[in-house]
Order: sequence, then structure tokens, then C-alpha cells
Amino acid sequence: MIFSVRPVERICVVGAGNMGHQIALSAALAGYRVKCTDVSREVLERADQFADSYLADRVARGKLAEEAARSARANILFTRDLNEAAGDADLVIEAVLENLELKIQIFRQLDEICPPHAILATNSSYIVSSRIAGATGRPEKVCNMHFFNPALVMKLVEVVKGPHTAGETAEAVRAVAEKMGKIPVVLQKEIYGFLVNRIVSAVRREALYLLDMGIASHEDIDSAVVHALGHPMGPFRLLDLVGIDLAYDISMGLYRETGDPADKPSPALVERYVRGEWGKKKGKGFYDYRAPDRPAG
Ligand code: CAA
Repeated sequence: MIFSVRPVERICVVGAGNMGHQIALSAALAGYRVKCTDVSREVLERADQFADSYLADRVARGKLAEEAARSARANILFTRDLNEAAGDADLVIEAVLENLELKIQIFRQLDEICPPHAILATNSSYIVSSRIAGATGRPEKVCNMHFFNPALVMKLVEVVKGPHTAGETAEAVRAVAEKMGKIPVVLQKEIYGFLVNRIVSAVRREALYLLDMGIASHEDIDSAVVHALGHPMGPFRLLDLVGIDLAYDISMGLYRETGDPADKPSPALVERYVRGEWGKKKGKGFYDYRAPDRPAG
């Protein structure tokens, strides 16, 4: 289908959690008018405070001009009202929990609330947009736009085209990522885990296997990956950063898809998942963040 896409000026980010608040702030820093929404008042307040402290810290450290910080702050509004947040959006980036039913419900609502020209993108790490696009009357304007954690720092953005996605949609989303100072890559076809999570999963699976076999401690496996391969952090530190709950969900999703027992979450992951040790956000995962010098067992 041929259609023209309006230039994106207003962005709505749905979900102000781990990813959403940093995506919203990245967009505000790039000059977009951003409205960030969440159902949780507490999550929104935390995101609002983070925006203040992050911008103030960057100004104090000479990384950002005072005027740029002021204008980024003025560009971003946090609201619990989805109608207010999405009513005038040119692009919506959904960054809620990795729950297909929830995403479908949100996209159905967004389709009613947003102007007809608006593009609806999901930041999901593994749910392809073809599972969601049918909930809208505008599947050609739906795609994946996948950021990495921490979104203010990580440069890569995966733009994934589904069979329903118009080329103009993917191009508009790619251009937004570029304006945000990111490095976009476009996947021409959907595949579970996209590019990065497939590669990360391969490293993670091997690291968990080595740990489960008692070959080395998680600290030593991390050290090997950092000091021999030059990764900025090892697979266990990274699991703690992105969330063990998310890694568990991704593994279970893949296992359901493939039926291959090798894709099941490993015992070391399941143990921590069940104990609620979901990584940095819970104070403990593979490492203990409540006592930073003492690694968790
Ligand atoms: N939020 C915002 N900014 C942060 C941050 C955070 N949580 N953590 C670090 N930073 C910033 C710091 O402020 C600092 O900025 P400046 O250079 O401008 O001062 C910069 O990042 C570097 O930070 P540090 O010096 O404190 O620490 P570091 O050099 O170890 O970098 C890191 C931290 C950026 C997280 C780095 O360790 C890294 O790149 N790790 C790998 C992260 C990664 O692989 N992410 C992908 C995860 S996979 C994923 O996201 C998949 C998914 O689907 C969810």
C-alpha cells in the first residue's frame, strides 16, 4: 500500500519502566515533543524524578549544556492518561511488560485514540509485531522498534518489518532512531529474538551451561568474556542488568516456539527466577547489589 507518512514531531511512549523512561528521555533530548504514560503512579513519579536528576547530573559533569537540558525537560510530559499521551502522537513506542495479551489490548486502544497517520511501534524484545498488528485497523503502520538497555546509552535500534509493515513506516521509524542519535538496523523479515538477542542468547546459553556444569563460577565466566572477548560486561552481569525475569520469559517463549529442550531456561536461571532474584532492580541476581563488594552465590 502506498501512503505518505507525516514527519514525526510528537512521540508517545507507553510504559515508563526500565526501558520506557529512558526511551522517552532520549527522544526529548533529540528535540521531539514526548508524552510518557504508565498505569502506575509510582513508576511515573520515579521516571519524572530520574529525568530531573539525569539531566542535572549531565549538566554538572559538563556533558550537556544547561539550555539543552532545560529544553529536553520542557519537551517531556509524564501522564497517567493514555488519551492525553497518545491523542496527538505521530509515533507511539510501546514499552510495557512482555505480555502479548496486554500489548494487543494497548494497540487496540491506541488505534482508537491516535490520529489515523500515527505509526504504532513496539519495543518488545521478542514479540514480533505481526502478532499485534491485527488488533489495529492500520497494520501497515505497525512495526518493531527495539532499543537496548540502558536506552540512553546503547546506540543500536532494531527496526523490524513484518509482512504487514509498509516500507514508508520502517523508513520513518529508522529516521526517528537516527535523529535520536542511535544507529538503526532494519530487519527485512521477522525472526524470533531479532539480531542482537539471538547472538546474546547464544553466548548466554553457553555461559549458563558452563555454570550449571560447575566448570567455573559466574564471576570467572564474566571475567573471561570481558577480558578475552572485550565485551563491556559479562553475560551474568548483563543478565542482572536486563532482568532475570525477562531472560526467563524470552527462554520460555523460545522453548514454546521451538519445542527444543536446549531452549529451556537453565537451572541457574530458573532458581533465581523462582526466588525472585531478578537482578539489579531487585537488589540481587547473580550479584548482590545491596552489598556491592560481595558477589551473590
Ligand atoms: N542509565 C543511563 N546512563 C547510564 C546507565 C544507566 N543505567 N549506566 C551507565 N550509564 C552511562 C554513564 O552515565 C556514563 O555516561 P558518560 O560516559 O556520558 O559519563 C556511561 O553510561 C558509561 O557508564 P560507566 O562509566 O558508569 O560504566 P560502563 O563504562 O561500565 O558502562 C554500560 C555501563 C553502558 C551499561 C556498559 O557496561 C555496557 O555497555 N554494558 C553492556 C550493555 C548491553 O549489552 N546492553 C544490551 C543488553 S541486551 C538488551 O537490552 C536486550 C533487550 O531486549 C532488553
